[in-house]
Amino acid sequence: MLEALKAQPQDKILQLIAMFREDKRTDKIDLGVGVYKDPTGLTPVMRAVKAAEKRLWEVETTKTYTALAGEPAYNTAMRAMILNGVVAADRLASISTPGGTGAIRQALELVKMAAPGATVWLSAPTWPNHPSIVKFLGIPMAEYRYFDAASGGVDFDGLMADLGTVKPGDVVLLHGCCHNPTGANLDLAQWAKVCDLLAQRGAIPLVDLAYQGFGDGLEADAEATRMVAARFPEVLIAASCSKNFGIYRERTGILIAISRDAAATAITQGNLNFLNRQNYSFPPDHGARLVTMILEDDALRADWQAELEEVRLNMLTLRQSLADALRAETNSDRFDFVARHRGMFSRLGLTEAQVNRLRDEFGIYMVGDSRINIAGLNAKTVPVLARAVAAVL
Ligand code: LMR
Repeated sequence: MLEALKAQPQDKILQLIAMFREDKRTDKIDLGVGVYKDPTGLTPVMRAVKAAEKRLWEVETTKTYTALAGEPAYNTAMRAMILNGVVAADRLASISTPGGTGAIRQALELVKMAAPGATVWLSAPTWPNHPSIVKFLGIPMAEYRYFDAASGGVDFDGLMADLGTVKPGDVVLLHGCCHNPTGANLDLAQWAKVCDLLAQRGAIPLVDLAYQGFGDGLEADAEATRMVAARFPEVLIAASCSKNFGIYRERTGILIAISRDAAATAITQGNLNFLNRQNYSFPPDHGARLVTMILEDDALRADWQAELEEVRLNMLTLRQSLADALRAETNSDRFDFVARHRGMFSRLGLTEAQVNRLRDEFGIYMVGDSRINIAGLNAKTVPVLARAVAAVL
């Protein structure tokens, strides 16, 4: 049986982790996978997470099963953090999932069950795992224009033209903030136009919110998601705690489904529970419990938010200094968009050959589409990257 299997293409982002580890050079720079690193190059356990783990060890008396949807208090706390009450509670169903990927996977499975013929629309480009999962599930897929390589901004006219052809019942995947891989984002006025258009087309938004708190702040980064949630009768929201709580390996995410009314919500919740049962029964609990403890405790929450804000501001400082260094090294404003982008990533607009040269000659690792993880940089490596980019242009 197993000899019938075909080799699978490697995930381009995860492949870079292995290549970087094998590189013997001591001055190599990892700008690949989206993991936050502090100025010393560490991915720290956040202070509030450490404190919550200690407290959990003291108070946890059992490891018995929770609920199929995951810890109810986690679902409540996450719905509040993301939506802040913009949708009535009796229209919200949700499940705890293994990370943001788990939430995306369950969302797409739900789409497949509810609307087998619906097309899922993805931004061009998007996180490579989006099309990979859509294809794996055999769901019809289409792309809408998103990135304008010349300006490093959003191709808003192209986006509106393409989304203008969406059919009623199609699902449109939108990055709630901090677009991955480009770093280019819609402003709120543009979001409002997208909402008008999609509502008129009868589309169902699927919002991927993996970086809340990494762009303009915890509240600001949820504004677009809240706008969509308040506007549409049906919305799916897949959110991750990997980045903003720094608990990558704990696999902590949530899928929220907004239905038309309370009766529909009960059916949706039952289907979400069913999907969890089919795929892994109970979702992982440890990370979700830590998040709940932090969000429910004023002191822990304040400390977590303060540290998250440090992380965010550190990335903004790195963005500005990289934009300045690239301006100086290339004698042009070609890369000024780096300072305007938000989140962990920016797509630099280099060719694959240039990306390969940066890796082979300079030991600088980035995804083949020239996406860099801003948080992989520090004050010492910013000028090194800027010089190397200028050298390969
Ligand atoms: C990334 O895009 O680098 C992150 O979301 C990590 C991942 O799983 O790909």
